[in-house]
Amino acid sequence: MRDPRRKKYNLRGKKMDYTDSSYDSVDSWKTIILLYNSALKEINTKLEILNDEFQHVHRYNPIEHIKSRIKTPESIVKKLRQRGYESTIENMVKYVNDIAGIRVICSFTSDIYNIAEMLANQSDINVLSIKDYISHPKESGYKSYHMIVTVPIFLSDGCVDTKVEIQIRTVAMDFWASLEHKINYKFEGEAPEHIKRELFECAEMVSDLDAKMMSLNDEIKGFAASESELEEQIESQKRAAERTLLKEKLYAEAE
Ligand code: GTP
Ligand code: MG
Repeated sequence: MRDPRRKKYNLRGKKMDYTDSSYDSVDSWKTIILLYNSALKEINTKLEILNDEFQHVHRYNPIEHIKSRIKTPESIVKKLRQRGYESTIENMVKYVNDIAGIRVICSFTSDIYNIAEMLANQSDINVLSIKDYISHPKESGYKSYHMIVTVPIFLSDGCVDTKVEIQIRTVAMDFWASLEHKINYKFEGEAPEHIKRELFECAEMVSDLDAKMMSLNDEIKGFAASESELEEQIESQKRAAERTLLKEKLYAEAE
């Protein structure tokens, strides 16, 4: 059931003119940006808590770093126009899913799925869509795990479920995506065939690297586990020997 405290902001028909000085528009635009900024803070905190807990329990950080951004008004308008929608606040909230965007950079592919699952299982997070470009890479070679979620934002007079796009990828996938983005920007999406081909080859190298790094890490974890098992065995043998010595001493004194 919907929380009765939830307020529905009436955004119908409001013009998305963020330079408009009429009180109504400015207020709506500011409220919307406040909501998206708050949603980024909420998701950021959730991710930091998960990372801290992992450090506490497993002595290991699955998240390397987190980047977040709010889409510029110009890009929002451009996206709406490309999709044939009028630039209204209602359309922007409804059709632009990446106004609030967060990028989570992990060490290993397995961390990506762990983080995604732990976030999705939180009771206040509602997953609207998932695109797994790791198991199904794009034609370009692009790999990343995308989720569109909503998170409730409590304001003084109500609560609004606010959308956030979360992209989760490894350091290597991020390196590749940044270069590919730069190249595509330079060639306005029409990069020469040989560059596209070489980029695709790099994407395959990135996948190999990620797979090798993950299996190396698993092997190291195996060593660490057997090392601590060995330490535990030595400790318990020491304790047993101490008990035997104590018993012998007590018997000797009693005789
Ligand atoms: P937009 O691309 O944002 O319009 O959304 P979409 O509906 O196509 O969603 P998708 O999940 O495919 O892409 C969302 C975002 O992922 C993009 O805005 C980029 O940040 C990133 N992305 C997707 N495909 C690629 C790619 O081929 N290369 C790079 N570098 N980034 C990509
Ligand atoms: Mg985008």
